[in-house]
Amino acid sequence: MTMGSGENITSILHEDRKFPPTAEFTAQANISSEAQYQEMWQRAKDDPAGFWGELANANLDWFKPYDKVFEGVMPNTKWFTGGTLNAAYNCLDRHLTTWRKNKAAIIWEGEPGETRVLTYQDLHREVCKFANVLKQLGVQTGDRVTIYMPLVPELAIAMLACARIGAAHSIIFGGFSAEAVADRNNDAKARVVITADGGWRRGKEVPLKKAVDESLAKSPTVEKVVVLKRVGWPVSMVPDRDYWWHDLMQDASSDCDPVEVDSEHPLFILYTSGSTGKPKGVMHTTAGYLLGTMMTSKWVFDLKEEDTYWCTADIGWITGHSYVTYGPLLNGATVMMYEGAPNWPDEGRFWEIIEKYKVSIFYTAPTAIRAFMKWGDQWPNKFDLSSLRLLGSVGEPINPEAWMWYHRVIGLERCPIVDTWWQTETGAIMMSPLPGITPTKPGSCTRPLPGVVPDIVSKSGQSLPDNAGGLLVMRQSWPSMLRTLYGDHDRFLSTYFGEIEGLYFAGDGARRDTDGYYWIMGRVDDVLNVAGHRLSTMEVESALVSHPSVAEAAVVGFPHEIKGEGIACFVTLRTGDGNDSLKQTLIAHVRKTIGALATPDVIKFTAALPKTRSGKIMRRLLRDIAAGREQAGDTSTLEDLSVLAKLRESDE
Ligand code: WT7
Repeated sequence: MTMGSGENITSILHEDRKFPPTAEFTAQANISSEAQYQEMWQRAKDDPAGFWGELANANLDWFKPYDKVFEGVMPNTKWFTGGTLNAAYNCLDRHLTTWRKNKAAIIWEGEPGETRVLTYQDLHREVCKFANVLKQLGVQTGDRVTIYMPLVPELAIAMLACARIGAAHSIIFGGFSAEAVADRNNDAKARVVITADGGWRRGKEVPLKKAVDESLAKSPTVEKVVVLKRVGWPVSMVPDRDYWWHDLMQDASSDCDPVEVDSEHPLFILYTSGSTGKPKGVMHTTAGYLLGTMMTSKWVFDLKEEDTYWCTADIGWITGHSYVTYGPLLNGATVMMYEGAPNWPDEGRFWEIIEKYKVSIFYTAPTAIRAFMKWGDQWPNKFDLSSLRLLGSVGEPINPEAWMWYHRVIGLERCPIVDTWWQTETGAIMMSPLPGITPTKPGSCTRPLPGVVPDIVSKSGQSLPDNAGGLLVMRQSWPSMLRTLYGDHDRFLSTYFGEIEGLYFAGDGARRDTDGYYWIMGRVDDVLNVAGHRLSTMEVESALVSHPSVAEAAVVGFPHEIKGEGIACFVTLRTGDGNDSLKQTLIAHVRKTIGALATPDVIKFTAALPKTRSGKIMRRLLRDIAAGREQAGDTSTLEDLSVLAKLRESDE
């Protein structure tokens, strides 16, 4: 994607292939006719209160019915005001009075190979017990709890236990560093941290408790730590602060009434990157989020009672919140969870899991699909993938080549692919094919779901015609929209609603084709999408300049074969020219400050960075250099042309 010099964005991707669903799939689909979709979409647009009100009555269990479906206008919309409910009750308790009581809720496989199955009843019991543990540790309704765990059932248990007592969870992906944990503890003022001794990743232990210990030196609000024994290696336990999960659970009662919370009660905070160095605490509330994740799971994944559903995301990301935990459990589905890496002990692991558990729905990310392609067809071809009936993709635009491979080698040319566009902030899927009706085009997330009213506008907010690239916005509020950035409502207003008056701005560039299909072209802000994970260039820059040898740093993305986008860092030093060992030091420093997911791919030392006369770093030029492109754009505002020549020379 390139930002043109004018208002619009030039789109370079052209793709004409179309893949309609099979008649067989359509016949059994939850949404099975184009007319049904059209009617739902129009109704949701014209009468959102009627549309969402009926769905909320039919799909959520309320302690007290709501008074109003929504109040206020975007950005300050409130949904289902006056109503009370509980998220854990909706995910668990209500299934226990049905035949689902003994249905598998979670089928889990650890990286070393152990298997656990938790029925809805089992999960309910564990959640109630852990909710009592949290209460015993002093956690109250309205508090925040940090969760920093491997992908084990206890992670879902911990989050649902928080929801049961009305405490907001703040889950931090296990790949983040101790410093990132400390920042998030402090921002959320978390009182309790739930962690594990470690987790398994490619046969090695990831030292989670050790990172928590380091973070606590800088997290004054944290009073108690609960530690799950997962890998069994030694950890230090501080008396009266640190407790083993199994000790606390031993005597905990399995009776725990769910706390009745308001529809707009905070359910969780999830930190994500924005265009500044400080992560944003995206806050979601209860009723709207639950309804959004429940309905989209049913519509997009076509969930059925018989399905074995596997979303490979870690629960530490929004995909894992919405489509490993809340969405599927609200629907009473069976969720597959796998703790470890796709290439451990070999590159066949995912396909082995699909064959072994007869997975029917598989939802993963383009970066993973590109890695599978590279590892070769022989891995999936060794296994029986005939149980699959639906495939999904999320996290970044999927390149048509990867789409076609997914379709052919994994879907055996018969599974619909749902390319789902959404964000941490949107809570639930916004644009996606409906698998029973939407002819798919490789690389397009196709059309908006009911209740989603997107548009493509210019920087000044004018609606653009079909095929013109522009900014992706939402014209109408939706139930699972973020409500604020924790502790910083002004940043919430300026980030999402400050760009274009009255509209939600997603941060993405996109175009709509003449069939009404949307094509996401990537971020237009300083946000990178590395392996489907969001990172801000500023975050990496601040990590670099926090090292004593660095004077200045500029970070840009460049096209990366597997990760989608790689991280290139241009660094000027306080003294000296730099060498390989300093490169390694800086890479380690960034990993320590943010986490392994931010590992720079390229570090280039330079005596100066290209700047405009007003001192602004010309990232566009750096992007060209990082991508190995010829300088296309205008360099007339560059202050010192020799800087560019030098940067190019250092390329040789
Ligand atoms: C950004 C959101 C929401 C799940 C995971 C990422 C990009 C996400 C797609 C898609 C093209 C996509 C966008 C978006 N993105 N899904 N199907 N096609 N781009 O969540 O970290 O909040 O990032 O990911 O750029 O704005 P996130």
